[in-house]
Amino acid sequence: MPTLSQPLLDVQHVSKSFGALKVTDDVSLTLRAGQALGIIGPNGAGKTTLFNLISGNLQPQPGGRIGFDGQDITASAPQARCAAGIGRTYQVPHPFGRMSVFENVLVGATFGTGRHERDANEVARQILQRTGLAHQADKLAGALPLLDRKRLELARALATEPRLLLLDEIAGGLTEHEVAELIEVIRSIRAEGVSIIWIEHIVHALMAVVDELVVLDFGRIVMRGEPAEVMASAEVQAIYMGLEVAA
Ligand SMILES: Nc1ncnc2c1ncn2[C@@H]1O[C@H](COP(=O)(O)OP(=O)(O)O)[C@@H](O)[C@H]1O
Ligand SMILES: [Mg+2]
Repeated sequence: MPTLSQPLLDVQHVSKSFGALKVTDDVSLTLRAGQALGIIGPNGAGKTTLFNLISGNLQPQPGGRIGFDGQDITASAPQARCAAGIGRTYQVPHPFGRMSVFENVLVGATFGTGRHERDANEVARQILQRTGLAHQADKLAGALPLLDRKRLELARALATEPRLLLLDEIAGGLTEHEVAELIEVIRSIRAEGVSIIWIEHIVHALMAVVDELVVLDFGRIVMRGEPAEVMASAEVQAIYMGLEVAA
């Protein structure tokens, strides 16, 4: 049984290379139940790869360990991690394009949780309402505009009833107004006790939701702390200034 002091997510010394490229370099990261963490860092820093390691889409190199709710899940398949309560969205949405929006969410609500079909139908309907997709329920998922594809990513992740929700640039590419709407939905998810790790370049959106920020650069965590302090730090300024000079 997990104890109060035990983190919900416990990533220890995780590394991943693609060929000679060290993309995740000895990352250790813990998250308590109910906590919300933002991850920032330049493109190519290894943010999405870290999510892939947590969700089980990728395996870390030997020596790393990932714990969730007191269990060692380092070797668990993605489906098992999903069933254990780890839900995620993808930076590039990939819905089942030939299925309706409703059916896409129903898949998560049925297979992600082992619910009976009648319950799953009701859950899927509620989630579509909540994510602002109810009016698109019968549309083909492949025909949705960007905002609704992002909403569908979130809806599909929610349908699996996550205890930890991993959001990968869910607000990227949206208008200010759309981002504001999304922030409200994510805040409401958090208010229900779901733990969140949110990768995003839109810092003010992160600031509205998370308790702490983590900065990844070249596959390493260079900083973790209170969001305003992190953003004001010399390290972070240097990383982002370096990018402007390079651009
Ligand atoms: N499956 C893969 N095979 C080879 N290289 C990859 C793979 N996935 C990611 N990379 C490389 O790893 C680096 C980090 O990628 P990623 O984790 O997507 O960064 P971020 O999300 O921070 O932009 C990039 O240089 C990317 O090209
Ligand atoms: Mg990424």
